[in-house]
Amino acid sequence: MEKPELFKNGKRMDGRTLEETREVRIMSGVLKEAVGSAFVQWGGNKVIAGVYGPRECIPRHMANPYKAIIKCKYMMSPFASTEGHGRSGPNRRSIEISKVIREVFENVVLVNRFPKTQIDLNIDILQAEGGTRVAAITAAAVALADAGIPMRDMVSAISTGKIDGQLVVDLGKNEDNYGESDVPIAMRHRTKEILLLQMDGKLTKEELKKNLEMAEKACEMINKKQTDAIKAGYEKKEVEFKL
Ligand code: CDP
Repeated sequence: MEKPELFKNGKRMDGRTLEETREVRIMSGVLKEAVGSAFVQWGGNKVIAGVYGPRECIPRHMANPYKAIIKCKYMMSPFASTEGHGRSGPNRRSIEISKVIREVFENVVLVNRFPKTQIDLNIDILQAEGGTRVAAITAAAVALADAGIPMRDMVSAISTGKIDGQLVVDLGKNEDNYGESDVPIAMRHRTKEILLLQMDGKLTKEELKKNLEMAEKACEMINKKQTDAIKAGYEKKEVEFKL
C-alpha cells in the first residue's frame, strides 16, 4: 500500500492533535472464571486480560523455590485485523511481545511472596489498530490488581513516536506502519521508572527525551482510567461501555 497522508490541515488522520490519545475505556472484573480480569478498548484496539493464580507451578521443575514465576501469553485472535491471522499458535511477534510484557510485571509484582507458584497472565487481542502491546500492558496491570496480586506500583503504558517529522503520542495503525519511529513505553506510576522501552526507527537523543516527557504525561491519564476501573470493579459498579 502507498503511504497515506499522515497529516491534513495540521491534524492527524483521525483528527487528533500531536499529544491527543485515542479514546481509552477500561473495565475490570469482566471474566467470571479468572481471578482477575480487565477489558480495554483503546481506539480500535480491543484487548482482554485474564489472570490465574498464584497456583502450583506445572511442570514442577520450572518452579522457583523463592518466588512465583510469571507466565505471560499475548495472542492475537484470527479476526484481530485485516491482515488475517489465520495461523493459530504463537509466532515470532507474539513470543517477543509476551516476553517484554512478562519482564514488565516481573519488576512490579511481589513475586517472592508466592514461592513455588506460577501466575498466568493471558492477553487476547480481539481487535488491533496499532499499539496493542501498550494496551495489553494497561489491561494486564488492571487484571493483576483486580486479582488482588500485590504489586510495588501501578503500571501504565503508551506508545509515542515520530510521524512526518512530528513527535506524537499514541500512534494509530497507519502512523505506526508509515511513521518514522515508534516507541512504546511502560512506566511505574509513582517512581516513573521505565519498565519497557522499545524503538523502531530513528530518533535523535533530544527527540527521544521529548517522547519520554510526552509518555509521562499520557501515562498519568491512563493511570487515572486504570484506577477508576479498579475502584468501580471492587465496588461492583455498573460501567457504561459502548463496544
Ligand atoms: O500493536 P503494536 O503497535 O504493539 O505492535 P506492532 O508489531 O508495531 O504492530 C502495529 C499494528 O500493526 C498492530 O497493532 C496491528 O494493528 C497491526 N499488525 C497486525 O495486524 N498483524 C500483525 N501480524 C502485526 C501487526
